[in-house]
Amino acid sequence: MPTITQALPSQLSTVHNIVHTTIRTIYPRYYPHGAVEFFIAYHSVEKITADIQAGRVWLLTEGGIFVGTATVSAHEVARLFVLPEHQGKGYGSALMDFCEDIVFSMHEYVELHASFPAYALYEKRGYKPTIYHKVPCDNGDYLCIYEMKLAKSNRGIGEIHCMSNDSPLILRPIMPSELPLLEVFLYEAIFIPPGAALPPGDIIYTPEVFIYIEDFGSKPDDICFVAQLEKMIIGAAWIRIIPAFGHIDEETPKLAISVLPEYRGKGTGSVLMHRLLEELRARGYKQTSLSVQQQNTAVRFYQRLGYKIVNQNDQEYIMVKKLN
Ligand SMILES: CC(C)(COP(=O)(O)OP(=O)(O)OC[C@H]1O[C@@H](n2cnc3c(N)ncnc32)[C@H](O)[C@@H]1OP(=O)(O)O)[C@@H](O)C(=O)NCCC(=O)NCCS
Repeated sequence: MPTITQALPSQLSTVHNIVHTTIRTIYPRYYPHGAVEFFIAYHSVEKITADIQAGRVWLLTEGGIFVGTATVSAHEVARLFVLPEHQGKGYGSALMDFCEDIVFSMHEYVELHASFPAYALYEKRGYKPTIYHKVPCDNGDYLCIYEMKLAKSNRGIGEIHCMSNDSPLILRPIMPSELPLLEVFLYEAIFIPPGAALPPGDIIYTPEVFIYIEDFGSKPDDICFVAQLEKMIIGAAWIRIIPAFGHIDEETPKLAISVLPEYRGKGTGSVLMHRLLEELRARGYKQTSLSVQQQNTAVRFYQRLGYKIVNQNDQEYIMVKKLN
């Protein structure tokens, strides 16, 4: 299943490679030399770095391989590139669906600059040209490009041709408006021994459980990533520093995770954990801990991710993963 994640500063070269390889391979079929060099210079390391640092750059992976990227800035979608060997498989459309969701959650229209190779894709999605630019480049060459626009009310009226049947799994930070969902994921994280009855829903409000999510987002170490499939959040993994069982010290956040029951065992938990652990590494955390019931099959899941048992009581293990 394709996965879309926010690009990290350490992924600069991945984004740069997708953009530059695609320009060098595809653009000479559509543009003169001077225009191709203009595109190359325009998508500079400095510009990509600034966009990644601002959290605007997204990467699409399939089977562990990075195949495409796009950037969203206010009402603009930019730098949409899919590597030449992966084109024509629906990845560009998947990235556009995702980028439009972000823009339309805040704005009434999307704007973009459409290069000739991508023009047809945008046109099929209902975008209309608004301004034509003819930019003089080196050697007397010209770079011709259209600005295009899609209003929210016109979304979906174009003939969208998506060849991939799989919707991408999106891994992203939780949005403030979604924080109430943590109650659902906290409940789902509670271990139920095989054959036991489900606990009542209000079990999450007992203080030793609720401490995992109470006023989540109010503390600097409150970090949560969610997995989104189509319009639905199907998993959440989060950390916070709390004086609960398994607390190691004030620098070691404790982790909790759950995936909705019908989506378990399909790899979602693993990619969500990898994304959260990458983020923790990027933010300089040295390790993270968790507590898990000894009978929970999640013990094996955590061991696969590199967690080690460091302590235990009669029912639970405390596990720690070093991040360096
Ligand atoms: C643990 C959990 C987050 C893993 O997410 P996932 O999407 O199922 O994980 P993946 O598909 O990437 O990996 C599957 C592994 O998760 C573990 N797992 C735990 N509960 C599982 C379940 N109900 N179904 C499938 N796998 C489960 C297994 O170790 C499995 O590995 P295996 O195939 O070698 O047995 C998820 O199964 C879940 O929400 N479980 C209930 C909540 C929970 O126990 N949270 C941890 C609290 S400490």
